[in-house]
Amino acid sequence: MNKEKNNFGRNLITSEELNKKNLFEIFKLSDNIRKNSLDYSNELDGKIVAMFFHEPSTRTRLSFESAVLRLGGEVITTENAKEFSSASKGETIEDSMKVISAYADFIILRHYEDNSSERAITSSSVPVINAGSGKSQHPTQSLLDSYTIYQNFGKLSNLKIAFVGDLLRGRTVDSLVQLLSKFEGNEFYFVAPSNSMVKNQIKKYLLDRNIKYTETKDLESIIEKIDVLYVTRIQKERFEFLEEYEKVKNDYILTLEIVEKMKKNAIIMHPLPRIDEIKVEVDDNHRAKYFEQVKNGLWVRMAILKTLNDCNYE
Ligand code: CP
Repeated sequence: MNKEKNNFGRNLITSEELNKKNLFEIFKLSDNIRKNSLDYSNELDGKIVAMFFHEPSTRTRLSFESAVLRLGGEVITTENAKEFSSASKGETIEDSMKVISAYADFIILRHYEDNSSERAITSSSVPVINAGSGKSQHPTQSLLDSYTIYQNFGKLSNLKIAFVGDLLRGRTVDSLVQLLSKFEGNEFYFVAPSNSMVKNQIKKYLLDRNIKYTETKDLESIIEKIDVLYVTRIQKERFEFLEEYEKVKNDYILTLEIVEKMKKNAIIMHPLPRIDEIKVEVDDNHRAKYFEQVKNGLWVRMAILKTLNDCNYE
């Protein structure tokens, strides 16, 4: 077989490692897969993909599993790896990777440690895809997010993007900011309670690149001028003290009344799961794109797997 190589790396660990070319190749492939998915049903013939998830997941895990099956591959998995894999007996990430890479051709890893994927690739002999690492990175989410923005605006530049919610404990915002920072003219707005404001390292990342950003607690003060409103949930499970969560859990609730103040062509995104931060009444508004993100997750993850398979092909 003579598969064409592209310039994707061996693994997918952070958004930072992706360039514009990578992005547009993934978008083009995702479009093709969306329109003609049956044409891709043998791409992973004979390949086994291991799912190693130490944190709960619905979308990332099931969309990756569906993607593998639709590409003709097979999935092996351990339920709740934190509790039921040998990690619970103290096995290190490095040893787990050595072991799993003896059984699988790819490893898809979700882990509660920020640097788990960086550790994983030091010992895995097969490609690793980061499916969410602590409070740090979620690169495949940022690819499906940027694909959704591109579908709606036909560009990833000169946009005003507001991120709302728990910007300190989440990871999707970090990954998406890194991707969108590669495009000119974007302005970022960070809207959060003071105990959940965007991380200093992201602010430094933007300052180092001379990229404009604004921090505010007042969503309504910016609602009329933004193109993308990216809402995130307050991450209860990552709070050290429950009373700190209780204080801010209802600070930002997006209602239809607020949404009606947005530009007509603005869009509302959310990586999901949603708790209360977007009222269900908003779901039927033409600006709501969070369930489109869910669908795009499948096409984009099929495209990622095919791309990594092609560039790791020997
Ligand atoms: N967006 C996201 O990562 O969702 P899951 O936690 O359900 O995978």
